[in-house]
Amino acid sequence: MAEELVKVEHLKKYFDVRSSSLFGKKKVVKAVDDVSFTIHKGEILGVVGESGCGKSTLGRCVLRLLDVTDGNIFFNGKDISKLREKELKSYREKMQMVFQNPYSSFNPTMTIRQSFYEIGKVFKIGTEETEKRCKQLMENVRLPEDLMNRHPNELSGGQLQRLAIARALLLNPDFIMADEAVSALDVSVQAQILNLLLDLRTSLGLTMMFISHELTVVEHVCDEILVMYLGTVVEKASGEELFQNILHPYTQALISAKPKEHPAMETHRIMLEGEAKSAMDAGGGCKFAPRCRFCQKGKCDVEMPPLKEITPGHFVACHKVEGEMKKNG
Ligand SMILES: Nc1ncnc2c1ncn2[C@@H]1O[C@H](COP(=O)(O)OP(=O)(O)O)[C@@H](O)[C@H]1O
Ligand code: SF4
Ligand SMILES: [Mg+2]
Repeated sequence: MAEELVKVEHLKKYFDVRSSSLFGKKKVVKAVDDVSFTIHKGEILGVVGESGCGKSTLGRCVLRLLDVTDGNIFFNGKDISKLREKELKSYREKMQMVFQNPYSSFNPTMTIRQSFYEIGKVFKIGTEETEKRCKQLMENVRLPEDLMNRHPNELSGGQLQRLAIARALLLNPDFIMADEAVSALDVSVQAQILNLLLDLRTSLGLTMMFISHELTVVEHVCDEILVMYLGTVVEKASGEELFQNILHPYTQALISAKPKEHPAMETHRIMLEGEAKSAMDAGGGCKFAPRCRFCQKGKCDVEMPPLKEITPGHFVACHKVEGEMKKNG
């Protein structure tokens, strides 16, 4: 197996928030609550879950754009979880990000070439080398070079997202974090960008973390998939295994929300009922319990199910699934 590039151990990111009233009580949002995973070199890890489940916070912690509350993040074997900004500088080049909205991620007053040159200047690449890299990158993302002379408003969403990927590659990174990178694009353009990312992974040997609120988007791109619910991982498996054998009730509900698009879905839709807990709720028990059609009173609502390996490489945090596994020997 390839070497580990990113290793995350028991990562926690809690935010202190105060309600808006003057004497509002301080509450804690557990945006990421004990998450662990490994990404090997050349692999793509998918992170999925509904809006607010902690995907972006997890991504930003891994890139150390946020301080972490607890846990460790190793990049190429070095623990970067507690490094200060100055010590992080050399890692910033190696870990890059592609954002959701290509229109707001470029400076509207600059041409694309000027935006790229700005980065070249900050990281002291030199004009000649920046130009050389720009030419190569436009080939890599399959765009004509003259598009670099345009402003963002003269380009389509798909072209801009290709350019955002090119920009992320300008510093020759080892790791790319794509946070909802195709969510703002039309479905046909989404497929083109996903194919481009897959090609780049092969041609440049990139390692990626790919965040999306849609399970069907990560399916064809990711080697390993984490399903998150309110800050915790509820299911983790290879892409191939997950889509053949979805076990967690939440993942089943996620995928059945788009019944026509996926052959692995049940014929009927699973509606998520009940009021979701919030990332601020204290108390034990399964965080999905209030919405789960299999919730066992006295068990699920009091005891937090641990993430357990159900079959080799397939991890699930659910009392029901664990019970069935034990029954089947
Ligand atoms: N800076 C912050 N301060 C307080 N709460 C935050 C902050 N950033 C994110 N959160 C909260 O953390 C949770 C996870 O947010 P986020 O990581 O953006 O989720 P996702 O990317 O899955 O939609 C949400 O409840 C969100 O409101
Ligand atoms: S532990 Fe219980 S409430 Fe949670 S997902 Fe499993 S069956 Fe549902
Ligand atoms: Mg997000």
